[in-house]
Amino acid sequence: MIKVAPSILSADFAKLGDEVTAVEAAGADWIHVDVMDGHFVPNLTIGPPVVKALRPVTGLPLDCHLMISNPDDFIEDFVAAGADWVCVHEEACTHLQRTLARLRELGAHPGVALNPHTPPESIAWVLGEVDYVLVMSVNPGFSGQAFIPSQVGKVARLAEMIAEEDLEVLIQVDGGIDDTTVGAMYAAGGRCFVSGSYLFDHPEGYAAGVEALRRAAEEG
Ligand code: DX5
Ligand code: ZN
Repeated sequence: MIKVAPSILSADFAKLGDEVTAVEAAGADWIHVDVMDGHFVPNLTIGPPVVKALRPVTGLPLDCHLMISNPDDFIEDFVAAGADWVCVHEEACTHLQRTLARLRELGAHPGVALNPHTPPESIAWVLGEVDYVLVMSVNPGFSGQAFIPSQVGKVARLAEMIAEEDLEVLIQVDGGIDDTTVGAMYAAGGRCFVSGSYLFDHPEGYAAGVEALRRAAEEG
């Protein structure tokens, strides 16, 4: 089974609650919330108040992707606001193990995200501490960017590392996911797919987009 996680960065912010309700009705599994601080990435988006406002709107897990410097200063606020799954970037954490352990202590599912240039081996010694790894298949900051094919090999390598240690770690893939790219990522071991522009711009609507991603993944 795969999980489809619509990225609300591509939703209409003027009616965010309705957009979340609509993708939930369309069969989405998670709601992916892209948090950007203008430092770690060149864009500004959502903070804990928006997560808090969305919490009562949906029963789906809220998955917060923190593209921020110094995430330790904010993880407590995101979990208190209702985030279920929270990932921090490897590149933003000096004491990554501590940050992941703190997320676990706060009651969230801890995750770590990797920029395209970051090797999977950089997280070998914390793999046992996470519930998911997010592999970026674009450079974080914006939706609608082109998929970077080299990241398929990274997903495959991570899947090997997880299997070698007999761990239960979900591989999430984020960036440029559509019905032409999801298949290779599924075959490599990805099981949770973030989709922004493909899903929210799908000409036949959100349900058709979710269904097309599931079909293309499983055919891959
Ligand atoms: C990029 C974000 C992604 C993005 C995905 O920095 O982390 O979640 O919104 O958008 P698409 O699917 O359009 O690449
Ligand atoms: Zn994201």
